[in-house]
Amino acid sequence: MTDAVGEVPTDPFLHPAFMAAPGQVADWRLVLVYDAARSTGLLEALPATPAAAAGRCGLAPVAARATLDALCAAGVLQADTDGVVAPGPHWPSAAADVQLHQHATTLRRWANSLEARLLGEELPDRGVFQLKEWLQSMAVHAASESDAVAEAALGALQPTRRADAGLSALDLGGGHGRYAAALAARGVHVVMQDRPDVVAVVEQEGWLTGTGVELVAGDFHQQLPDGPFDVVLAVGIMHTMGPQSAAALLARVGTRLRPGGVLLIRTMLRQGSPTASLFAVQMTVAGLGGDTHRLADYQAWLDAAGLGAPQVTPAGNGSILLAVKP
Ligand SMILES: C[S@@+](CC[C@H](N)C(=O)[O-])C[C@H]1O[C@@H](n2cnc3c(N)ncnc32)[C@H](O)[C@@H]1O
Repeated sequence: MTDAVGEVPTDPFLHPAFMAAPGQVADWRLVLVYDAARSTGLLEALPATPAAAAGRCGLAPVAARATLDALCAAGVLQADTDGVVAPGPHWPSAAADVQLHQHATTLRRWANSLEARLLGEELPDRGVFQLKEWLQSMAVHAASESDAVAEAALGALQPTRRADAGLSALDLGGGHGRYAAALAARGVHVVMQDRPDVVAVVEQEGWLTGTGVELVAGDFHQQLPDGPFDVVLAVGIMHTMGPQSAAALLARVGTRLRPGGVLLIRTMLRQGSPTASLFAVQMTVAGLGGDTHRLADYQAWLDAAGLGAPQVTPAGNGSILLAVKP
């Protein structure tokens, strides 16, 4: 950002998501300022002068002015010669807006709970993120990867099998459904399993309407759909659990794959990158028993599950592991 008068500062939200590479993360002050302005309704009250906007929302005028000034200085907002504040050159897109909200929520969590986690203290239930917004923020990331993930999984099938009509897939913890939809768009019958509250949001919002994806509400640690499946996706889920649950889940997945079937894991490997190491802190802060796992762990679990050695490729800020059932 530059202080030079008259110059548009560089976009402070160039990387609006919290899981950016070290050195590329958005300015935490602006993330919090933006989120506070968003949640109090201040942004929705614009265009207006700071005093009028504060009056409309019932907010403290001095705090509202300071908040809007900070966003103007960053180019997120801009003021005209009458002092009327409106969206500026770095006003975030709708996609960046949900990521910024998620980012701000994550900042508060890190600030309030990492020390307690280190001290081994029990924290009060953190409560879920606003479920719909959490799913939307993950969908933004998934939008840039879902086609490549679908192609990678299908590309690992034997060519004769891939040419068959009637391929089937299971998307475990599919969340927003972007990955399931990408497979369905390629003619695959997809079953997507997630927690009942997540499935309810997907149905309510109609995110998978018309895609043909079959939704199954249930805990994947308790039960998996019967299959057999040609493809199982485990995208963004293996680090949400500890090692014993991961080994048990992969063992059950092994029983649901056809011979020649493919398991695709998209995850952050422990110490796989500087971002992955920061991600392990996020899993600690979340306090739900999740953790990153080492490649050697996955190799052992997949072997025990009767799957072949995984092929590992970098993907975005993480890794893709592809394992085929002999
Ligand atoms: C981090 S999100 C990943 C969503 C999506 N696959 C992606 O990568 O964008 C993890 C997903 O797994 C689901 N999940 C976590 N534990 C689960 C369980 N025990 N049974 C079913 N779904 C679960 C969550 O509800 C969430 O949708």
